[in-house]
Amino acid sequence: MIRESDVLGWLSSVEHPGQGDRSIVSLGMVQNVEISEDRVKVVLGFPKRPDPLKNYLVGAARAAVYRNAPGGVDVEVETVVKEPVSKPNKPAEFNLEQLRNVAHIIGIASGKGGVGKSTVAVNLAVALSRLGYKVGLVDADVYGPSIPTMTGTENVQIEMEGEDEDTSLFLPVEKYGVKWLSIGHVTSEGQALIWRGPMATSALKQLVLQTKWGVLDFLLIDMPPGTGDIHISLIGDVPMNGAVIVTTPQNVALADVLRGVNMFRNPQVQKPIIGLVENMSWFTPEAHPEEKYYIFGHGGGEKMAEVLKIPFLGQIPLVQGIRETADAGEPAALGTGPDAAAFLDLAGKVAGAVI
Ligand SMILES: Nc1ncnc2c1ncn2[C@@H]1O[C@H](COP(=O)(O)OP(=O)(O)O)[C@@H](O)[C@H]1O
Ligand SMILES: [Mg+2]
Repeated sequence: MIRESDVLGWLSSVEHPGQGDRSIVSLGMVQNVEISEDRVKVVLGFPKRPDPLKNYLVGAARAAVYRNAPGGVDVEVETVVKEPVSKPNKPAEFNLEQLRNVAHIIGIASGKGGVGKSTVAVNLAVALSRLGYKVGLVDADVYGPSIPTMTGTENVQIEMEGEDEDTSLFLPVEKYGVKWLSIGHVTSEGQALIWRGPMATSALKQLVLQTKWGVLDFLLIDMPPGTGDIHISLIGDVPMNGAVIVTTPQNVALADVLRGVNMFRNPQVQKPIIGLVENMSWFTPEAHPEEKYYIFGHGGGEKMAEVLKIPFLGQIPLVQGIRETADAGEPAALGTGPDAAAFLDLAGKVAGAVI
């Protein structure tokens, strides 16, 4: 069964060329969506003033739904006259003003949880900063935010700038040369867990768009695990430049990686994949730094990248220090060991790929 959120997702690929290419969804033009077994009806609202692009937009909306809906579904698009409610401020959720001076927005994603996505995101942020770039990171994992712990900022109270709820801005936490912001910084413990669906999506967008980032070379977004509606909506509405996918070397991970990759290649969003990082590539015991044990298999990530035709960005070893430093809130990338070197190497490749 098609859901309304599916249809809105499809329609968000339809951009209004006369309105700075904003999508008809974010412009609030979609007045109604009706779904029955064999029919989808969309009502678009246009202002009284004639819009020369009306026919084009109706056709594009119909095509977007038709292309994505299962075969045999009738698609109907109707228009109504509706004067936009004049609102002095665009809702902060769709206002990209705070990203004006952010050069590259990169999503860090994986098909499933526990592969070390947040560990890679935090260390990549620190490593990029060590290379001299200005970096920010948003923890978009509303269900299990781990960035506050990994950066030792769990007790920091986020400050706001401005009084008005619609326009006030979060001020990110600065530490290790990186601007961090997590849902865990703005909710009391446990509260994040009850956020679901549209509420989570809207909270996330607010974290990204209603924050005073200032000038950044890179804003990394530690995406929530999995590949659902929240992801598509986030990728669609935040102008991401590309994605780094994190995996582990096992064969079974291929399907997960493919899900992660497809999320960005989805026709509604179409973002480039910067590449694949293999985490926990081999185990090196603390006492025997020269030894490598390929406990999850060997070369799996590189093979996956080849099959999926995406660049392979490198390998991160499984070492006790990476977990310990994460638990202690002092990312491994700050150090001088081989693990730090692996993250610096990764940072160089990511920067090289997008700059
Ligand atoms: N390369 C690594 N070496 C050692 N421990 C790691 C490594 N990568 C991740 N971990 C540990 O694995 C656990 C899961 O990692 P995390 O980054 O939270 O995964 P995800 O964000 O994908 O759910 C954490 O305890 C983390 O410290
Ligand atoms: Mg995580």
